[in-house]
Amino acid sequence: MEWQAPLPEVRRHSVTRTLWAELPVDVRAAVTAHTGPVTAALDVPHGYNCTHASILTTAAGDVFVKAAPAAEAAAFHDREEVAAPFTAGIGPRLRQRARRGAWDVLAFDAVPAARHAHLAPGSADCAVLAGLLQASTTRTAPGNVPPWTSRWAEHATPSEAALLDGRTLVHGDINPHNVLLSAGRAWLVDWAAACRGPAWADVAEAAIRLMEEEHTARDAHAWASRIPAWRDADPAAVTVWADVCCRAWEARIGPADAASSNARHQALAAEAASAVAH
Ligand SMILES: Nc1ncnc2c1ncn2[C@@H]1O[C@H](COP(=O)(O)OP(=O)(O)OP(=O)(O)O)[C@@H](O)[C@H]1O
Ligand SMILES: [Mg+2]
Repeated sequence: MEWQAPLPEVRRHSVTRTLWAELPVDVRAAVTAHTGPVTAALDVPHGYNCTHASILTTAAGDVFVKAAPAAEAAAFHDREEVAAPFTAGIGPRLRQRARRGAWDVLAFDAVPAARHAHLAPGSADCAVLAGLLQASTTRTAPGNVPPWTSRWAEHATPSEAALLDGRTLVHGDINPHNVLLSAGRAWLVDWAAACRGPAWADVAEAAIRLMEEEHTARDAHAWASRIPAWRDADPAAVTVWADVCCRAWEARIGPADAASSNARHQALAAEAASAVAH
């Protein structure tokens, strides 16, 4: 199963949730075997794919647990598990992966009192995100994550795919709900779409998120240009990325619905190209 970006209109909606107390006894026991007894369970209402998400108060500290039916989640949880050793300092530590019956469970260090990033113009979080991406885009990916291009496999020619190839660890799903801020620092969570690609891949996707929050293409490009990975990006590759995204999005949701997203991609690529021309 290949990762697909959730449609924008469902990104903020949750699937029907199972609370901690409603999880099967053996699933809860798998977690508490590591943490000791749970003294409080705070439901986390965000997340698109997980059926259960909560922050547990335990003797072993606060733990973020997410769980989902293995049939749907195992491949994504595999990806998180593979990425985890490579995300130290930028993502919360993975404490545990467990499978019990139909359930697949991940437990991480909880980010305390976290809030999601605000990426609208003027928000100080934009600079914090740039700092986080500056750190994350210098990491080499593990060998066994798929290439970034695999999500658009049928929409990229071999030569286009070659331009979008790379060895950098790519988060692959940068959006405000996957950027947590706490105590003056930021964390990237949800590495279920982790892949390998060019160092600028996450910066490009983040710049599109800024534009979705009403930054102009010029401002989003200026923001991205604080990050060396974007300054070093090959503008021809950025143009190919925009073209491939537009083709894929149009095939998925139709030209009318894809128009605004595609315009953002093209405008950002045009900024990157014109910056080099000058
Ligand atoms: N370590 C953590 N500490 C505190 N809160 C967290 C942590 N990890 C995730 N969260 C919160 O839980 C939410 C859901 O987690 P996550 O994004 O990993 O789930 P998902 O269902 O796989 O997501 P998606 O909606 O992107 O598919 C996040 O948006 C964030 O608000
Ligand atoms: Mg998420």
